[in-house]
Amino acid sequence: MRILAIETSCDDTSVAVVDTAGSNSAPIFTVRACLVHSQAELHGAYGGVYPTLAKREHGRNVIPTLIAALKKAGLYNTTGGQGTVLPQDVTRILEREPELLSQFQDAIPSLQKPQIDAIAVTVGPGLPPALWVGVNAAQALALTWELPLLPANHMEGHLLSVLLPSTNTSPTQENQIPFPALGLLVSGGHTELVLIKAWGEYEIVGRTRDDAAGEAFDKAARLLGLPYPGGPALSVLAQSADEKIRPVVMPRPMLHTPDFDFSFSGLKTALLYATRNNPELTTHETTRAALAHEFEAAIVEVLAHKTARALDELGVHALIVGGGVIANNRLREALTTLTHSRSLPLYLPEKEYTGDNAAMIAAAGSLHSDVPVAPRLHAQGSLSL
Ligand code: KG4
Ligand code: ZN
Repeated sequence: MRILAIETSCDDTSVAVVDTAGSNSAPIFTVRACLVHSQAELHGAYGGVYPTLAKREHGRNVIPTLIAALKKAGLYNTTGGQGTVLPQDVTRILEREPELLSQFQDAIPSLQKPQIDAIAVTVGPGLPPALWVGVNAAQALALTWELPLLPANHMEGHLLSVLLPSTNTSPTQENQIPFPALGLLVSGGHTELVLIKAWGEYEIVGRTRDDAAGEAFDKAARLLGLPYPGGPALSVLAQSADEKIRPVVMPRPMLHTPDFDFSFSGLKTALLYATRNNPELTTHETTRAALAHEFEAAIVEVLAHKTARALDELGVHALIVGGGVIANNRLREALTTLTHSRSLPLYLPEKEYTGDNAAMIAAAGSLHSDVPVAPRLHAQGSLSL
């Protein structure tokens, strides 16, 4: 099955074309194209994602990203002037996205229907105004090309991202995962430990009680004067730290509680007080790097410790990790060490699929392609796994 997928849950507009094979228990994905248009620079001015700006930018970027993805996948063919007549309902579906509607009317009628079998789209979780753009674009395309729609859960996509090979290559990781497995989701909006009984069968066993790990990284980065999104910048700064200099010892929140939950807001507060009481810590490059290093160490230690305990207590056979924060090298190393010492396989996404991307949405949509879909999809901002 060949799937065209659209992702607009936050500040990345992404379109992918993915071929699927294998079974639902061991799916095989080949990525024909996966393009991401990031809005990070625009949101940087606000220090975080600004939902109405995200919505406007998605509306502007979906069609150009779609055209580029179809070209990359070798599926872009124009009709040579014959033109496809757009169904009337397209205007109604896209009435709240005027820029998207006019681009759609300009670009889509001259395209030949591409060789795809279904359209997957993120319905949640995410920012509702942003999600709606993707949902409406997918709905309008599915109607025009008479294709089935596959609603996809963004967090299930992050879990499945471990099975995505680089564009136009074969999978390098074993796709037959020994279930039950433990899933660790670490993104800007979520920090969850998930018992994965099979693909599509999930039980959330632990979650953050306040900030998500990525959110904590972003807030800490801001306190250290780093630009949004702060996670990657903070980890680069932390790398330059001299480990012998430790101006502040930060707490390891909930490290020894008997549950699998997390709490990261206290860490941000600890950093806030440290920098407020001693402003010179952020003006000297060595102490600023030391603060970044200590903050990163605290988050990684808590994530690794709780994950290790869940591995030991839940009788799982593998660890699967997804979400933007798994781009963090220190976290990758800590999880590699703890699975290695337990002789358990570790599944990490390729770096190109750690952040938000539509290839993982094609994967998540494909798992449920046999489930009937309501004629009208809705964005579900707080959709759970
Ligand atoms: O999964 P994702 O791309 O978007 C959401 O679904 O939220 O995750 C984005 C988050 C941001 O908070 C970003 O700062 C964080 O992932 N992040 C990192 C790193 N790269 C991205 N955090 C720590 N270290 C990194 N290298
Ligand atoms: Zn995400």
